[in-house]
Amino acid sequence: MADLTSDFCGIKSPNPFWLASAPPTDKEYNVRRAFEAGWGGVVWKTLGEAGPPVVNVNGPRYGAVHGADRRLLALNNIELITDRPLEVNLEEMTRVKRDYPDRALIASVMVPCTEEAWTEILPRIAETGCDGFELNFGCPHGMAERGMGSAVGQVPEYIEMVARWCKAATGLPVIVKLTPNVTNILGPAEAALRGGADAVSLINTVNSITSVDLDSFAPQPTIDGKGTHGGLCGPAVKPIALNMVAEIARNPATAGLPISGIGGVTTWRDAAEFLALGASNVQVCTAAMTYGFKVVQEMISGLGQYMDEKGFASVSDLSRKAVPNVTDWQYLNLNHVTKAVISQDDCIKCGRCYIACEDTSHQAIAMSPDRSFTVKDEDCVACNLCVNVCPVEGCITMKTLPHGAVDARTGREVGDYANWTTHPNNVMACSAE
Ligand SMILES: Cc1cc2nc3c(=O)[nH]c(=O)nc-3n(C[C@H](O)[C@H](O)[C@H](O)COP(=O)(O)O)c2cc1C
Ligand code: SF4
Ligand code: SF4
Repeated sequence: MADLTSDFCGIKSPNPFWLASAPPTDKEYNVRRAFEAGWGGVVWKTLGEAGPPVVNVNGPRYGAVHGADRRLLALNNIELITDRPLEVNLEEMTRVKRDYPDRALIASVMVPCTEEAWTEILPRIAETGCDGFELNFGCPHGMAERGMGSAVGQVPEYIEMVARWCKAATGLPVIVKLTPNVTNILGPAEAALRGGADAVSLINTVNSITSVDLDSFAPQPTIDGKGTHGGLCGPAVKPIALNMVAEIARNPATAGLPISGIGGVTTWRDAAEFLALGASNVQVCTAAMTYGFKVVQEMISGLGQYMDEKGFASVSDLSRKAVPNVTDWQYLNLNHVTKAVISQDDCIKCGRCYIACEDTSHQAIAMSPDRSFTVKDEDCVACNLCVNVCPVEGCITMKTLPHGAVDARTGREVGDYANWTTHPNNVMACSAE
């Protein structure tokens, strides 16, 4: 089988699957069981300053978005960093690292934004034998109001400053965990690089309100009649995370910066997508919270089998494979023409494609009196909406017209590659270039 061992900026682990900093990594009991189940590494639940630990709410701390089959699509939380004393966490981390020397143990840290606070705590945590640090600049609730978490992660100058303090205070790798609650992820990523960070990890949770109780008129989760925004994670945030990972991976300034991909990883396929878009390993939280620690076994075997099939000998062979294929819209080939095709053998005649195209796209699907559905090539703009609303997977496919064929809609021959920057309608062509 392919070699799944991982070397993430010098931190070695038997596979690229780490548990993200969160309840699954909150204590020794959990982490031991996670390692027994096969996880390659963990990022311990975020540590704070010594002294009285933070206090969590004592009401519900999770909201959720469910699919029609009640599958958990997203989890929303208002939990803070660890609410257990620093000394207890450090003792447990020491024991765990001693007993599992081959697994990666990363300490996630969040302390007030002063040089003294960061430089004092890192050497103390390093005594546990941990393999590196992850700076939590991501939590969007609770800690941000105190000037920590995403309050730091949203200001590139602060990221750079704290990363620099931390690099000066430790010889261990420093990973900066980024918040997605920004307009452009490149500012924070470049700041982490300037500050000397060895890597970035992303994403932390997305600011969100998942639902409102329509009797009490309070956001959920509701604490004594009030709610607040929380952090969204799970399968629903994967597209946001994938885009941000790809942006960093293809940005010339940050292209060499190792990335730990986080956000909705539930299967080996999700992990492979993160790797292909530029991550070197992945971190997982919601999937473990939903299905338990053993989900990693499916991830390991699935990724290994896929890599064997593709002939990838190591994780680094797969990493970044899709990065060259991520481009800006203006460079997409406008002469690439496709048409929807409906398989009459697979069609169950539900009519979804018809009404979607008729009401909201290009009136390109015909319905016969006996409810046969066929695509009118002369109207189809190839938007793909019918493919996505069809309940039968693979029933509608997009057929590519070969070079030289005539597009029945435009009457034009399919020509060579041409993009928006060369199109005569683009009055902004110069600035686009
Ligand atoms: C209940 C809960 C608590 C979390 N606590 C932390 C934390 O203490 N530190 C941190 O860096 N991230 C924390 N996270 C964020 C996760 O580490 C991760 O970035 C996020 O959940 C996205 O991954 P996922 O989609 O696999 O869950 C927490 C997430 C959840 C659900
Ligand atoms: S691809 Fe778009 S335009 Fe073409 S048939 Fe489907 S929905 Fe209609
Ligand atoms: S949505 Fe799919 S199954 Fe339903 S009518 Fe259209 S092609 Fe057939």
